[in-house]
Amino acid sequence: MDTHSPHFVTCAASPCDAAELSRVHLTAWLETYPNAAAGIDADWIRKNVGWVVTPEGVARWREAIEAAALRPEQDFCRIARSTDQAVGFLCGHRSDVATLGPMYVLARFAGRGIGSRLMDEYLEWVGVRPVFLWATTYNERAVRFYTRHGFVDSGERQLWKGRLPNIRMVRSPHPVATRVRTGTADDMWA
Ligand SMILES: CC(C)(COP(=O)(O)OP(=O)(O)OC[C@H]1O[C@@H](n2cnc3c(N)ncnc32)[C@H](O)[C@@H]1OP(=O)(O)O)[C@@H](O)C(=O)NCCC(=O)NCCS
Repeated sequence: MDTHSPHFVTCAASPCDAAELSRVHLTAWLETYPNAAAGIDADWIRKNVGWVVTPEGVARWREAIEAAALRPEQDFCRIARSTDQAVGFLCGHRSDVATLGPMYVLARFAGRGIGSRLMDEYLEWVGVRPVFLWATTYNERAVRFYTRHGFVDSGERQLWKGRLPNIRMVRSPHPVATRVRTGTADDMWA
């Protein structure tokens, strides 16, 4: 069921959203991750993530959206729209544990409750399972956002593509965090 507010709507992504979501994906990267100390600038991002807006990247988005439609028990992909454009998305996967990501909201639509709406919908879908995600250490707003939604630092670290410093966060359905498996860089899905 679609969820409405005066400013935006969230709904299951449809295959025809693939090209638009790939553009939101790259735009959000360019807005979020440039960091001189980490040696990450727009050129580095375009080199490592620019593929998402290529035909191959759009096809990968379409596959992820179709997988969520075909296997809603396993895959989740939800989009947030303003009146005339896609402004964010959250995709994830669940089996014994759940993984969250990618999740992005365009900068000019941040702070309006869109991420929290997507997160609430995702956590309801996850049910009683641990949830894992990767976040970038200097992306303080995202770490704060995830912490507010019950995630804690799992202690795992990863340097994505040799530069992007990530921490793995976990949200346990129980009071004590459950370490079930070791994450891989693939969980981040860029
Ligand atoms: C991190 C992110 C997903 C959060 O999504 P969001 O839509 O901004 O989240 P919300 O609006 O629900 O909450 C975030 C902030 O807005 C505030 N807020 C929540 N609802 C609000 C509302 N209705 N009106 C105004 N502010 C609101 C919250 O207090 C919070 O404040 P803080 O960030 O200063 O602590 C989003 O900002 C984002 O995608 N950022 C860039 C990409 C990114 O970091 N992705 C995660 C990769 S791991």
